[in-house]
Amino acid sequence: MNRPTPTRHEPPAHRMLRLRGVVIAFALIVTASLSGAQSPSGATLGIAPGTNGNIATVKVSDPGNFVWLLESSTNLTTWTEIAAIKLHNGSFARGILPVATPNLSFRAVFDPARQTIPSALTNALLLPASPLNYTALTLPPRFSQQPILGQDNTPATNLTTDIGATLGRVLFYDKRLSTNQTVSCASCHVQANGFSDPRQFSVGFNGGLTGRNSMGLANARWYQRQKFFWDERAATLEDQTLMPIQDSLEMGMTLQALTNRLAAEPFYTNLFAQTFGSPAVTSERISKALAQFVRSIISTQSKYDAGVASNFSNFTTQENLGRQIFFGQTPFNFVTCATCHGTDNFVPGPNINNNGLESPYVDKGLGALTGLTQDEGLFKVPSLRNIELTAPYMHDGRFATLEQVVEFYDSGVVNHPNLSPPLKATGGAAGTPLRLNLTPQQKAALVAFMKTLTDPSVSTDAKFSDPFNYGN
Ligand code: HEC
Ligand code: HEC
Repeated sequence: MNRPTPTRHEPPAHRMLRLRGVVIAFALIVTASLSGAQSPSGATLGIAPGTNGNIATVKVSDPGNFVWLLESSTNLTTWTEIAAIKLHNGSFARGILPVATPNLSFRAVFDPARQTIPSALTNALLLPASPLNYTALTLPPRFSQQPILGQDNTPATNLTTDIGATLGRVLFYDKRLSTNQTVSCASCHVQANGFSDPRQFSVGFNGGLTGRNSMGLANARWYQRQKFFWDERAATLEDQTLMPIQDSLEMGMTLQALTNRLAAEPFYTNLFAQTFGSPAVTSERISKALAQFVRSIISTQSKYDAGVASNFSNFTTQENLGRQIFFGQTPFNFVTCATCHGTDNFVPGPNINNNGLESPYVDKGLGALTGLTQDEGLFKVPSLRNIELTAPYMHDGRFATLEQVVEFYDSGVVNHPNLSPPLKATGGAAGTPLRLNLTPQQKAALVAFMKTLTDPSVSTDAKFSDPFNYGN
């Protein structure tokens, strides 16, 4: 369809974003320009080299997720619509195929009258017709035995289903969860980084920094104390998932605004109906679906897991040395890592711990919540699974590398009144912190062992990845 645009669509001319592509004998000269100052707030236009045989890729980024019309013209007077595209999560890219016509121009136009494209499952998301498998998993034998069995924090009222985890995955990656639609859970919990954040402190919707380092999420399903966050202030995962949304620094949203916003998207009412039996979007359902997705982030495919199944015949000599040290096996009986980083999930049993990072603690952890001196410096230990990917380390991200962590445990543990017993020297003066005095080779072996906990299936599996459709 040829549409003579100028008057009907261009005024107000300042609502237009314009791109010119000029094709001359298969050469392309492109400039991207924002004409007029006032396209939808925050929208920008970019052009990148084409991939997959395209001559160029047009990219529109627009936190308002408006509908944009992609048009082409040979004479800059008559414009032909190529596509009307509703943005999801703030951006889309569209490849431009090679064209025979010389001097073809392209533009992306915002038209207030064309904003009604419904966001159906098929155009908003890249999801298969039937949900991926999050529940029928073959877990290693030890996961169905004690103590891991008893550490499962899945409540009977929120059993994970494939479609529920799928809805949770969509929510997890959706920037609509933050007030200005710029931040999703995944902004601070990055799949390639074991669902942690490579930055020491994460950046909230308004540019503010979080007070603590983001936590990796692999195997968060298993934790005997059930609680979440470094200071365990969330009693359950279902409680936790609504907290970043309402946090004034992280996402800055109210639950009412969120349920209204999501209920306006047909793809959400569709997914809520499939998950919960009716299309109603409620904060309780949002919290449950997010918790289902987080619980489904399960790592059991690491080199360590293959080692458990093969008596560690797959380990190098160095990794086996590191394993002996970590688990305090003869002659390393004095090393206590596994006391606090126990089971095949590398989490503690009944205790929350103080590992002697400093004294006094700047961030008092549980002590800041309870106001009790005996709680100062007590922090949750997140699973060490994928620890290689979740740097930096500790609640304040103070250590950039695992080598620094090992150096700390070897010689840097500080004497604190609440230092947990496994890190106190036995036989030494009262309150003396444990010193490991490992050789450089032994320290390197301990690091090598921790790297056997890396599980590429978690950091790359499509079922944990961003499901939004950003075009091509
Ligand atoms: C702006 C960054 C940011 C955003 C957005 C964010 N998180 Fe976090 N997340 C963090 C930080 C930082 C912590 C640790 C905070 C603390 O303990 O005080 C954390 C902790 C957690 C934990 C606790 C893990 C454990 O083992 O106790 C979970 C679960 C979690 N986030 C899930 C989510 C979900 C789900 C969302 C989206 C609804 C989300 N996060 C959004 C930064 C973020
Ligand atoms: C007394 C219990 C205890 C012992 C023993 C212990 N840790 Fe820890 N570990 C903790 C606590 C508590 C934290 C979190 C502390 C914080 O952030 O304030 C932690 C954090 C870590 C982290 C960083 C986790 C992250 O996600 O940032 C690594 C890695 C680690 N420990 C490795 C080890 C190794 C290796 C050993 C043995 C040499 C060891 N730990 C011994 C309690 C312990």
